[in-house]
Amino acid sequence: MRISWLLLLVLPLFLSCTKKEAPSATTHSTALEFIVGTDAAYAPFESENADKSVEGFDIDIIQAIADKAGFKIKVVNTPWEGLFSQLASGDRDILISAITINSERKKVMDFSEPYFEAVQLIALPLKSKVTKFTELRGLKIGVQTGTTGDEVVSGLLGKTDANIKRFEGTPLALQELVNGGVDAVVADNGVIDNFLANNTKAFKTIADPSFAKEHYGIAVKKGNTELLNKINGALTAIKKDGTYQKIYAKYFGKK
Ligand code: ARG
Repeated sequence: MRISWLLLLVLPLFLSCTKKEAPSATTHSTALEFIVGTDAAYAPFESENADKSVEGFDIDIIQAIADKAGFKIKVVNTPWEGLFSQLASGDRDILISAITINSERKKVMDFSEPYFEAVQLIALPLKSKVTKFTELRGLKIGVQTGTTGDEVVSGLLGKTDANIKRFEGTPLALQELVNGGVDAVVADNGVIDNFLANNTKAFKTIADPSFAKEHYGIAVKKGNTELLNKINGALTAIKKDGTYQKIYAKYFGKK
């Protein structure tokens, strides 16, 4: 008898103490929180603000998906190099980074349904004589390391050709084009168009028919079907209710 009375007195005290402990990063009191990795040097898809927060089309899309599916997200700027391994190691739960779905990547991560269509573009100085992709042979070409732009250029010149200038970020490659250090840059159309519109009118772009259509997907760790199903369900829902179209129009105008 005396012991149970004692428990009744002590138990509330104990509970109030444990409640004060900060909730861990992934177990929020009400909704789950997932860590989203993105290489935020890829406007208009993802870029860093002056206050270090990340904004862009991808961020609005994953936020809309999270709202629909009922989970929280924390977006963490994560360099492209190492992005995929952060997912494998569990340091990131979700990647949204204008990532093109391809068979090689499918081996190491699982992708949502496509959420955006893209294609490679060649950016060149206005005065350049180049009219098609194969004419880039012998010229210095800037790409972001490990992207699909790197892949197509490696396909043309061979992976080890010294004329392929690899950069950590696409903006760095484009800056080198502005500086005259490379003759061309090959990268995703959305990012090249955005850069040229915002930075200079001294460049032009060429779309080559040999470039295949690409589709961006949201990635989760291989086998995380529970999260993937939530993402796919919410992606379908935001396409149905017009949220997706609103976000699309905000960044790219009407389709
Ligand atoms: N779509 C290209 C690829 O998947 C480039 C993506 C780069 N994304 C970024 N946020 N830097 O390889």
